Amino acid sequence: MGGEGRHGHMKKWACITGATAGIGAATARRLAERGFNLILLGRRKDRLKQLAGELEKTAATLLAPLDIRDYASLAKFVRENELIFRDLEVLVNNAGLARGLEKMQDAVVEDWQEMIDTNVKGLLYLTRLCLPFLLARGRGHIVNIGSVAGRWVYPGGGVYCATKFAVRALTEGLRMDLLGTPLRVTNVEPGMVETEFSLVRLGDPQKAANVYAKLQPLRAEDIAETIEWVVDRPAHVNVQEIVIYPTDQAAVGLVHRTNKEAP
Ligand SMILES: NC(=O)c1ccc[n+]([C@@H]2O[C@H](COP(=O)([O-])OP(=O)(O)OC[C@H]3O[C@@H](n4cnc5c(N)ncnc54)[C@H](OP(=O)(O)O)[C@@H]3O)[C@@H](O)[C@H]2O)c1
Repeated sequence: MGGEGRHGHMKKWACITGATAGIGAATARRLAERGFNLILLGRRKDRLKQLAGELEKTAATLLAPLDIRDYASLAKFVRENELIFRDLEVLVNNAGLARGLEKMQDAVVEDWQEMIDTNVKGLLYLTRLCLPFLLARGRGHIVNIGSVAGRWVYPGGGVYCATKFAVRALTEGLRMDLLGTPLRVTNVEPGMVETEFSLVRLGDPQKAANVYAKLQPLRAEDIAETIEWVVDRPAHVNVQEIVIYPTDQAAVGLVHRTNKEAP
């Protein structure tokens, strides 16, 4: 643990999965500024260390260089850091990915396994492990990162969309199961955000750049601000879901591209 600071243990903690890039890293920076200490989860340990170093002056950090698909290692990590998880207030289930855009008849089964195991099962694993702590503390907020792909399907996106439809169902189901407790659950559903998402999906920097070419996509910071906002609502307000598109995108697969450089 680094950067504990004078008030390290007195502060509230947020756990952010997929903190090594994109929306997760931006959210870590935002929540650090809001006074949260951070449990940062992702596989790329060097990136976690770099982020922790950057946030050293604002937040204490606990690094979780783990694969969210590995329930046993998640459970071990939580068990070993129980004292910190007792002070957990916010869980941001952000780790996720899309792989490929092939038609289902041509798709690679391993891609499906990776998406389902990460986006659905990983999210469930950590949620299940954190819930007892949030319930015992009597306050807490679980923010799931869904997608517009969790509402509308597009060609070649069937399985990725199914994982995000699942995130929406899990959000609604968890809300119902937690009714009568003070815990809040939110599904944040972004359209196009310029992160490493398309590089991971397409595996080619040029193809990834083309996704965002000649339009102004959302920035990771835009989603981080939204997460900060939903968490910041008074305790009696539960923003249950929120759909955010870039202005240049009106629906999945309907974007406006211009020849002018984005401002
Ligand atoms: N970008 C978009 O247009 C968009 C739109 C709607 C929703 N989303 C959703 O937003 C979330 C964040 O994506 P992003 O756009 O910020 O993409 P990103 O830049 O590629 O970041 C994805 C993060 O997820 C982590 N991750 C992936 N697999 C993991 C695993 N097995 N174990 C632990 N961590 C894992 C990655 O960390 P490591 O690789 O270091 O493990 C990385 O930190 C995802 O759930 C995505 O589906 C994105």
